[in-house]
Amino acid sequence: MREEAQKRVEKSLNHPVFHTIRDVSEEMSMPAYVIGGFVRDLYLNRPSKDIDVVVLGSGIELAEKVAKKLGGLRLTVFKNFGTAMLRYRDLEVEFVGARKESYQRNSRKPIVEDGTLEDDQNRRDFTINALALSLGNKNYGELLDPFNGIEDMENEIIRTPLEPGITFSDDPLRMMRAIRFATQLNFRIDETTFTGIKAQKDRIDIVSGERIADELNKIVMAERPSIGFKLLELTGLLDIIFPEFQAMKGVDKVDGRAHKDNFYHTLEVLDRIVPNTDNLWLRWSAILHDIAKPRTKRYDKKQGWTFHNHNFIGQKMIPKIFGRMKLPLNEKMKYVQKMVGLHMRPIVLSEDVVSDSAVRRLLFEAGDDIDDLMTLCEADITSKNETKVRRYMRNFKVVRQKLKEIEEKDHVRNFQPPVTGEIIMKTFNLQPCREIGDLKAIIKEAILDGEIGNNYDEAFELMLKKAEEMGLKRVK
Ligand code: CTP
Repeated sequence: MREEAQKRVEKSLNHPVFHTIRDVSEEMSMPAYVIGGFVRDLYLNRPSKDIDVVVLGSGIELAEKVAKKLGGLRLTVFKNFGTAMLRYRDLEVEFVGARKESYQRNSRKPIVEDGTLEDDQNRRDFTINALALSLGNKNYGELLDPFNGIEDMENEIIRTPLEPGITFSDDPLRMMRAIRFATQLNFRIDETTFTGIKAQKDRIDIVSGERIADELNKIVMAERPSIGFKLLELTGLLDIIFPEFQAMKGVDKVDGRAHKDNFYHTLEVLDRIVPNTDNLWLRWSAILHDIAKPRTKRYDKKQGWTFHNHNFIGQKMIPKIFGRMKLPLNEKMKYVQKMVGLHMRPIVLSEDVVSDSAVRRLLFEAGDDIDDLMTLCEADITSKNETKVRRYMRNFKVVRQKLKEIEEKDHVRNFQPPVTGEIIMKTFNLQPCREIGDLKAIIKEAILDGEIGNNYDEAFELMLKKAEEMGLKRVK
């Protein structure tokens, strides 16, 4: 690993932006280093465009000269944070003075730039994030790795550089970051660091919901999000940030009959949907599809365990969950609600002989999200019984085929009433009134039931017939 990584480092530091930083840093006698995520990602061979440069001296002053030398680039300066940022081609470079104090992006306190490189590295979150590459003339490209971050990378370990109590109380969000990195990189969390998270978990309360949501979304977008949720559960963080999900863990047994553990089932569904979608909100739908199971769980001797209406109750729980977790309360949430509300429908369809009208109704309700709904339902089949799984998958194929045929024939996916309220009003000279709604509903139902086709002529004819029964007189 090391040799190839070394080549990547050399190649990367050949970029003119680093040469310019080197020259300016020599001129000003302010040593500069590339540090943090960019260095980590170079060694891990994950290309990154965000570069952090730490300067022994004023990061802003050095950045000003670099920007000038690169042809008068625009520099964005955050005086309060002591940072300056420029864009050069596709790279984003942020400069900051080395600090003794903790690295705190969100702190309002003025930054004291009086640290050594070691001070700065000490106050970073993980050993793999504390690596620095020198940009000095004499030791250009030299790696400074005081906490053996490279070794931890090779052993696939997330570890805090200092005693975890210090690192996590500097910024409790780092507990989420530890789990997020473990998930993205498929690394283990070192035992002492893990115990540190458990001990400090309650401190997550002082972190803003938005920052927690950012980390959570990164976990959800990883290749195996279940790793992250299991760690969140094991550390006790899940119960604090997402108690509804925690409540799904465990099995009840009555008369020797147990239901499945919905926490692990959900994680399986989530991992199974990952290869089929990059849509964050479809992945959230997988997380939330059974969220109301703990609340709706009942046992009776005849039926065993049931979870009646857990889809509708789950749908209703979502605004509160999204609100608390600072997830968006807009059409994205509505989409998740729709998925959760409808997630049983294709399964029910696939169990019966599939009737056209049932398919038409599902198409009507799911609209353009029908394919996403099918993707969710397929991921939801997690039975260990292979024959059963095969049967479901076969039936789903039939449902998909039927969906396609009916949509081609009836176009109900984006249903627009073929006879509008306006036409009804003109035909019978009506002011706005209930009958208009009634007629529209009758037409819609007739189309969905397949009694008439989804077209103007048949709809108009039905309208005339029903209106007559209602005692309405045609004037046009
Ligand atoms: N850092 C830290 N504590 C934090 C956040 C960041 O110590 N709570 C330090 C780490 O050294 C990190 C660097 O700041 O590598 C840059 O942080 P950031 O850009 O937020 O994250 P990256 O590590 O670059 O990772 P990603 O881009 O995946 O978020």
